Amino acid sequence: MVKQITDEIELSSGHILSNRAALAPLTNKQSNLDGTLHDDEYHWLLARSGHFGIVETCAAYVSAQGKAWEGQLGIANNSHLEGLTKLATGINQKGSFSLIQLYHGGDRAVLSTDPITSSATDFAREATYEDLESVKRDFVQAAKRAEQAGFNGVEVHGANGYLFTQFISRTLNLRSDEYGGSVENRSRLLVDTVRQIKEEVNSSFSVNVRISPVDTWSRSGLILEDAIQISKRLAGEGIDMIHLSLRDASGPAPFEADTRSVVEIIRESVSTDVKIVAAGGIKNYTDVSKALATGLDIVSVGRAGIVQADWPFHVQDPNFDLPTIPWSQELLSSQAVSPRFYEYLKKFSGLVEGGNPLR
Ligand SMILES: Cc1cc2nc3c(=O)[nH]c(=O)nc-3n(C[C@H](O)[C@H](O)[C@H](O)COP(=O)(O)O)c2cc1C
Repeated sequence: MVKQITDEIELSSGHILSNRAALAPLTNKQSNLDGTLHDDEYHWLLARSGHFGIVETCAAYVSAQGKAWEGQLGIANNSHLEGLTKLATGINQKGSFSLIQLYHGGDRAVLSTDPITSSATDFAREATYEDLESVKRDFVQAAKRAEQAGFNGVEVHGANGYLFTQFISRTLNLRSDEYGGSVENRSRLLVDTVRQIKEEVNSSFSVNVRISPVDTWSRSGLILEDAIQISKRLAGEGIDMIHLSLRDASGPAPFEADTRSVVEIIRESVSTDVKIVAAGGIKNYTDVSKALATGLDIVSVGRAGIVQADWPFHVQDPNFDLPTIPWSQELLSSQAVSPRFYEYLKKFSGLVEGGNPLR
């Protein structure tokens, strides 16, 4: 049977998603300075709830050491719980699956007073065993907080150049201990973190991981062969979904010889108990059909979800397309994008009026 975006889909943890559409995690810098929830962030996500099967938050820092930007959402201590509970309750009540992304920036955590990474850089020191034990503990505590707040699940952010990617990368990780060298060692921090979270939460709480399976814009030591092994190991931990961060959700790896789509390759590598989610350039009906045909289970969108809060409804129409960029503040404000989020979007090339020009 041909998959449709409107299909209900069941996760291994027993949750049923109302459709195959996910709002990708989108940093929006709308939280209060102490990481507590701001109304702008609540309204932005609630406007998408009830439309997307999955509504995922922005990357939320699990510790002060991992915090990367002002206005970032926090899940690092109990002062964050009240806002997170309000957010999870709101998303759940509208019938979407509520997912919070758990984040540590590693050497990108510019607000940290003591940043760590796999191998020392100009900005961060090499993490000791003790550091890595605290990182795992912080993720476990954050996951438990998410469960207490009422989220349906967490996604460990293992993608986009942050702490876990800094360990997985063949070029950034130069360690010779059990966290460096083989792919098993380079992915140890991520896999151990996931395992420890699974041990501490209820079996109905959904645990998921986002990875960058391959290099996208430039080379940074991520290759398909490693991604296959890592996906298999993560699947072995009993997670619900692997969320791939890609440039083209239906395309091949930009720097590799294999011309098959990355999704197809990862889909074939792991059990169908684990759902494959991917984001990367999906805008319209044709993009969705193509992505589902390559084996994708759940279609994740970032930019399309910014400009069209009820995108999953519109994309069922073969004639639908997104408004052309650059988008105006008026348009985005009609989609519950606050002035602060609009300001942040200016840094993305060609996306909004008054922002950086299209490269
Ligand atoms: C404004 C903005 C903020 C983002 N923030 C996050 C984030 O917090 N966590 C994350 O994993 N990816 C983040 N991403 C990447 C998106 O989740 C997504 O992978 C990317 O936008 C590609 O999908 P698209 O082509 O549908 O926009 C962000 C992207 C944008 C444009």
